[in-house]
Amino acid sequence: MKNLGIRGSLALAIVCFSCAVAEGMTQLDGLTDQNKPKRCSHERVYDMSGAYCVGLRLQHIPSLKSGIEILDFSENRLQELKADTFSSYTSIKFLYLAENQMYNIDKDAFAPLSYLQTLDLSNNVILNLPESIFQLPSLRKLYLKDNPLLHLSFTNLQLHTPIKAPLELLDISNCKIDKLPYWGTLPHLTHYNISYNLLTALEAKHFASMCKLEKVDLTKSLDKIKLCDLKPTINWLQDKNVYFQLDDYSKLNTKEFEKCDDMPQNFVALNITHHVCKTAYLEFQSIKTSRRTWLTVTGGLAGFLVGFMLLLYLMHRHNVAQTKTKAEKLKKATPAHDRDKQATVPILVNDSNDVSRL
Ligand SMILES: *[C@@H]1O[C@H](CO)[C@@H](O)[C@H](O)[C@H]1NC(C)=O
Ligand SMILES: *[C@@H]1O[C@H](CO)[C@@H](O)[C@H](O)[C@H]1NC(C)=O
Repeated sequence: MKNLGIRGSLALAIVCFSCAVAEGMTQLDGLTDQNKPKRCSHERVYDMSGAYCVGLRLQHIPSLKSGIEILDFSENRLQELKADTFSSYTSIKFLYLAENQMYNIDKDAFAPLSYLQTLDLSNNVILNLPESIFQLPSLRKLYLKDNPLLHLSFTNLQLHTPIKAPLELLDISNCKIDKLPYWGTLPHLTHYNISYNLLTALEAKHFASMCKLEKVDLTKSLDKIKLCDLKPTINWLQDKNVYFQLDDYSKLNTKEFEKCDDMPQNFVALNITHHVCKTAYLEFQSIKTSRRTWLTVTGGLAGFLVGFMLLLYLMHRHNVAQTKTKAEKLKKATPAHDRDKQATVPILVNDSNDVSRL
């Protein structure tokens, strides 16, 4: 009994102590939270100028340095992006807006960001995704995951295809999508995350237009689709060496799956779509290389011209210096040797004095 009592009070003491510590800590947390500066910090990272405003509970983007290339505004309380929100920050390349409360995005909000490469809009409540995002000329990575209302904007998304953005990564996981949007040809896409959406269909035509696809995440997205309806797409992905991630591969090893009809889809059309994508990719690569050669050629030419002009200038200066020294020698020489021309010398000196006075 006694023993138990001691143990009990000891336990109580420990509990109380940890309570006190916990309370103290939360109080401390509260204090630091209140004292935390609500100002973004500016730093240079990877030789780029960045502004960091993570977790400051801000409702608006404050005024920042104008040349920033990175803006991390994650974990704030931004609700809207207006047409002019980014108009002073046109050099942004990496924009992180995850975990805000964003529901409304103006259709032109991202239009000034022609250098934007990565856009993270994860974990918001976006209702209207503007079509213009897909036309951003440098956008390579787009994260839209965990937007429970995004499927609404996909139902009436009018895309001008082929889209301009050279997307390499597209993440639309966990957005309650039941029908995949058709993006048209995406010749650079290598990673496509469509996990945690209860899809009602998975068609090969969605993947035929992605000829560089390496990995597609289908985790927890296929439970509503009949096994046999998956077969043509699974075959297509296997044929093109695309790695597909599933939560359960075992159903692909069943007799039932084996017995499914093999080709109810139009493989000719799929092949054409795939071919169009490959052609677009090759075209892009050749434009890139020709632009590079053009740049090298013009760069070389410009360098040569600059060098040539420098040479001319140096020669000119050399000449001027030479004529000057000659003239000085002459000047010094004249009074001593040629007494007849002496009269002209003071006039010349006077002239130069006049000039210097001017
Ligand atoms: C795809 O998205 C899910 C959920 O957002 C995430 O857990 C998973 O790691 C992602 N897959 C890949 C390959 O990045
Ligand atoms: C589609 O292309 C593959 C090779 O990429 C070929 O094996 C197949 O026969 C083609 N199918 C049709 C219907 O043209």
